[in-house]
Amino acid sequence: MMCRFMSAMLVLDWALELPAPQPSQLVVVALEKDLDKGLDKVSERFGAEVRAAAESAGFKAATGDSFRFSTTDSGFRQFLLLGAENLGEPSGLRKLAFDAGRVAREAGVASLVLDIRGNQTGPNAGHAAERIAEGIELSGYIYDRFLGEDKRKPSKLESATIVAEGELARSESAGARGQIIAESIRRARDLGNGPAELVTPTFLATTATELAEELTHAGHDVSCEVFDLEECERRGMGLYLAVARGSEQPPRFIHLTYKPKAQSKGRICLIGKGVTFDSGGYSIKSSEGMMHMKLDMGGAAAVIGAMYGIAKLELPYEVHVISAAAENMVSGKAYRLGDVFRASNGKTVEINNTDAEGRLTMADALVFAAGLDPDLVIDFATLTGACIVALGPHICGVMTRDDELAGRWLAAGELAGEDMWRLPLPKPLMRMLDSKIADLRNTGERYGGALTAGLFLEQFNEGKRWMHVDIAGPAIVEKPFGVNIEGSSGVPVASILAFLSQGV
Ligand code: BES
Ligand code: MN
Ligand code: ZN
Repeated sequence: MMCRFMSAMLVLDWALELPAPQPSQLVVVALEKDLDKGLDKVSERFGAEVRAAAESAGFKAATGDSFRFSTTDSGFRQFLLLGAENLGEPSGLRKLAFDAGRVAREAGVASLVLDIRGNQTGPNAGHAAERIAEGIELSGYIYDRFLGEDKRKPSKLESATIVAEGELARSESAGARGQIIAESIRRARDLGNGPAELVTPTFLATTATELAEELTHAGHDVSCEVFDLEECERRGMGLYLAVARGSEQPPRFIHLTYKPKAQSKGRICLIGKGVTFDSGGYSIKSSEGMMHMKLDMGGAAAVIGAMYGIAKLELPYEVHVISAAAENMVSGKAYRLGDVFRASNGKTVEINNTDAEGRLTMADALVFAAGLDPDLVIDFATLTGACIVALGPHICGVMTRDDELAGRWLAAGELAGEDMWRLPLPKPLMRMLDSKIADLRNTGERYGGALTAGLFLEQFNEGKRWMHVDIAGPAIVEKPFGVNIEGSSGVPVASILAFLSQGV
């Protein structure tokens, strides 16, 4: 059986010139249509006949357009012209590499040569190389744990050579970083794509524990502690436990710690929403609305996946990954509308919607994080449908009062090729969360739903430097986009790693 550890990474090379022809090799030549010189370049390099043939086959160098031909000048070679766009941007380069990887895998070759010479690839060779390596690796991603042999299509691709100009042709170390980032994303995706029957709070906790062991074996200082129901009760995590109690699956509060070998530049807490299935509870979702709710632990998946890269890239911060994992179900023990629960910071919350469970689990996780005396706390959550309504399916909503922090995070997202957009935390909307019988209630009105969720979380950040990222749209992929196939995207693993690499 194929498993994650057997799907080895590709052997990556970087070069200034095409390598010698080899059997089972495909040379993919990237052509940017926007430059409008794509077809001229075809004539220059391969002669007017190739251009004429490509044109008559309808190849226009638009993204995804391709045209295949072979030459015999210096030995038999298979070429594929591949249209691309936005190669000056990280997301465009990553998409090109992803498309090239896919055609090479579909062609069944063992080695891909990706020729990007002659294209404008943006100023930073290091980031460009990371995205290229990441895109090629992700082109092989598929969740095949439950696929029978007949439906598996094991890829024959073993190596890739990127032919480029200047510094980009010497990107061994940046390429290796990109492969680590891709592996982090793969791990996050595997957790997300796992059915809720498999990926329970206990499974998340076991995965985190095993990750800590694996990274410790590899020489990194990573440890994991897991709190069970009794420990969470002892700590007064009343909001989290209210959500968890309707399920047969016991809650697991997960806390991974990484300490860098070098002097730490600060202590950072990354919290991920870990609702392994969100039925809505008694404020039950429609069947359609429940369909993708095994992915309501996308935040937890991302921060656990990111921990792999944080350690492997030896990032210079002390990082705490935290998830209050629970399943939101309906049963005789489930929490009800009108109930009041007390959070671990003493605040009481009246429940007016059991489907606004994520903020309840996150509240106790935020209070726990604040207790670690952090320099920065960021939470990631598939928190609101309203955020998808506001920003669409591809963009994360970013909420913080700290302008500098927002700026750094948005810049990291840009380098990583993941779209982020800042949303406000309007204080006047706080009155929507007023309760007559408790300090707060858990939901506001329909309009501004992403913002009132952010405002609710803010009540539990205990004054720490804090940012909330609503990943409800891009974490759950219904229609493939960029380098994401249907299912879990692993967003925002790449941004987390870019952010911690750039400095917070
Ligand atoms: N997990 C959902 C949010 C969600 C919806 C994520 C769709 C991804 C896709 C969350 O727990 C939820 O149910 N939120 C409610 C909040 C409402 C009750 C205030 C929502 O968005 O409808
Ligand atoms: Mn919900
Ligand atoms: Zn939810």
